[in-house]
Amino acid sequence: MDKFLVIDTDIGIDDAFALRYAMLTQPLVGITTVNGNVTADMATKNAKLFAAHYKLDATIAKGASRGLIAPVSAPITDVHGDDGLGGCYTNPFDATTADNAVNYLINLVKTHPHQVTIAAIGPLTNIALCLNLCPEFADLVKELIIMGGAFGYHGHTGNMSNFAEFNIWKDPEAADLVMQSAIPTVIVPLDVTYEVLISAAEVAATQDKFLIDVSKFYLDFTLREEGFHGMAVHDALTIGYLNHPECFTVVDKPVRVSTAGITAGQTLMPQSAMPIPDDNFKDLPTKRICIGVDTDAIKGHLLSALHFTA
Ligand code: RIB
Ligand code: CA
Repeated sequence: MDKFLVIDTDIGIDDAFALRYAMLTQPLVGITTVNGNVTADMATKNAKLFAAHYKLDATIAKGASRGLIAPVSAPITDVHGDDGLGGCYTNPFDATTADNAVNYLINLVKTHPHQVTIAAIGPLTNIALCLNLCPEFADLVKELIIMGGAFGYHGHTGNMSNFAEFNIWKDPEAADLVMQSAIPTVIVPLDVTYEVLISAAEVAATQDKFLIDVSKFYLDFTLREEGFHGMAVHDALTIGYLNHPECFTVVDKPVRVSTAGITAGQTLMPQSAMPIPDDNFKDLPTKRICIGVDTDAIKGHLLSALHFTA
């Protein structure tokens, strides 16, 4: 059976690592963009820059410019730079695309039912819109793999607040809608992504100039603001899971997302071991959640795949 991979992204620096890893190891046919690290327009320009640099033949379709309900928040320029790629390349491209992300994704899964995998590595706004506009979308997608969330394993509870990871925090209503849907879903949360840090030397050893250039900004941020040497390639681990699921420890649980108050953006599994009258998880489908990773093994796979050969 053919298979197709689309990456839904807010192209930031770790997104670029995911895109590069995907194009080297997966049938990457499309890039859809979403507001997150940068605006959807900037993410679209970055997708075009990436595709031109690596001579990637993939459809690029621009998506949502804001969350479903949450007020628009500013791009996080301190992590990925004003342009989302560390400010090291001039971007000559415009932000127009022939189709929009939602139309592209819906039409692709209708044309190739149960053959399209989507890696969502930014806020989940586009995926939620697909579910709203196409009731059968959940049944047509082969698998959705999400970089997002944090459940507290290994002490990782959030990178935007005490409780929330950025992609979920940016559009919690979209995330909660997606988590309640029937899409077969794997979640790659901070619990595992912060367990895989790539050093500047390891990036340099890939000999991939684009990745070396764009990661400088991110490496400076993580040392200055997060206090460690190395970068968490959060998004690339979604592709790591697709390629090597054996490197991950998983649990299958239903998931909800807090959408208000100080916990807005928190991803939650059921907690109570006893029957409860107001069960927020009643009858929900389970999602596969990565709670552990073989750090050395997945780093080895990632870095050897990224080793640049002209
Ligand atoms: O929390 C990490 C996520 O937020 C990654 O997808 C990164 O690119 C940022 O979007
Ligand atoms: Ca991202």
